[in-house]
Amino acid sequence: MHLDFLVCSACAREHEACAPQNVSPCCGKPLFAHYDLRAAGRTLTRDALAGRVKSMWRYREVMPPTSDGDIVTLGEGFTPLLPAPRLGARHGMGRLSIKDESLNPTHSFKARGMSAAVSMARQFGLKKLAAPSAGNAAGALAAYAARAGMEAHLFMPRDTPRANVIECEQMGAHVTLIDGLITDCAGEVSRRKAAEGWFDVSTLREPYRVEGKKTLGYELAEQLGWTLPDAVIYPTGGGTGLVGMWKAFDEMEQLGWLGRKRPRMFSVQASGCQPIVRAFDEGRKFADEHRGAHTLASGLRVPKAFGDFIILEILRKSGGGAVAATDGEMLAATREIGAAEGIFPCPEGAACYVALKQLLAARRIRPDESVVLFNTGAGVKYLECFES
Ligand SMILES: Cc1ncc(COP(=O)(O)O)c(C=O)c1O
Ligand SMILES: [Zn+2]
Repeated sequence: MHLDFLVCSACAREHEACAPQNVSPCCGKPLFAHYDLRAAGRTLTRDALAGRVKSMWRYREVMPPTSDGDIVTLGEGFTPLLPAPRLGARHGMGRLSIKDESLNPTHSFKARGMSAAVSMARQFGLKKLAAPSAGNAAGALAAYAARAGMEAHLFMPRDTPRANVIECEQMGAHVTLIDGLITDCAGEVSRRKAAEGWFDVSTLREPYRVEGKKTLGYELAEQLGWTLPDAVIYPTGGGTGLVGMWKAFDEMEQLGWLGRKRPRMFSVQASGCQPIVRAFDEGRKFADEHRGAHTLASGLRVPKAFGDFIILEILRKSGGGAVAATDGEMLAATREIGAAEGIFPCPEGAACYVALKQLLAARRIRPDESVVLFNTGAGVKYLECFES
């Protein structure tokens, strides 16, 4: 409604938002949506939210579609922020919470991004969408494309969890399994998209998935009574959620809803694929590709993130950091979270608890602080990881 233009993340040049766009024409980097927040703030007030739809579309004024008729929704977002008292008590923490994204359509936070991206695809009259995916993004795109009557062309590594492949097939998507990593899948989409007439909705190579993900940040603030936690731990692959939340914090400050304080943002990655952790530790602006990436946390098997420089800047600016978890630690943490709190997290979500323990031990998080862990998806989509 109040989308003004797109901004290049590298040089801040403005680009029109009235046609389909991928990366910025100036620098080939991610584009971000810019809103007229003064106009948005006339109707989007904290009080007005009380009676609104219980999905991410409650923040309608700062969402990209021009017309409500283009919104493609399955009820995504507004997931619970659950206190984790038993888990917290083990560490002397009184303010530990888990944002449970497994309750989204297709059981992961990827629903948010795809709802926004497919809505904009509908606005632009696009009919064929394509994406490389570690699994959950593919499931979400399959669902929203089906909902919108579009084709979804999905490329996943052959070792993607079965549930992801099956859900895509059952929702009528065109699925190709590749012997390789998500980067190889992305290569396949780029090579074929022009000839096939596909619009590429890869992470951060399309400006609107991040707009869906940013609603995580709005919800966090709303659910915490218009405050932000001291620290956020987020399982980072391509980084869209982290980048989106940071954008939401800035927008809310401009709306006059929050002050300048930000949470310390921590990325957790898998020991077998930790490009951001390495780059952070080495003080680099960009991350090198992680060679020979392997982890059962398929969402974290991203050897090179297109938005690496944006992720790294946020981690540094916020005073946060990046840590790694082994597959064994993630599996053990899954059981701990499950038995203590009644949440069966995905391995990526469980990694946040591994990270929390490390950060408490290193005194980078204090037990008296308020901390939010992100369970980005459902453990039931990863059954093969739990079968010995
Ligand atoms: C369950 C889960 N958690 C985390 C991630 C990483 O998300 P992002 O690309 O936003 O860093 C993914 C990506 O596939 C995922 O499926
Ligand atoms: Zn530029």
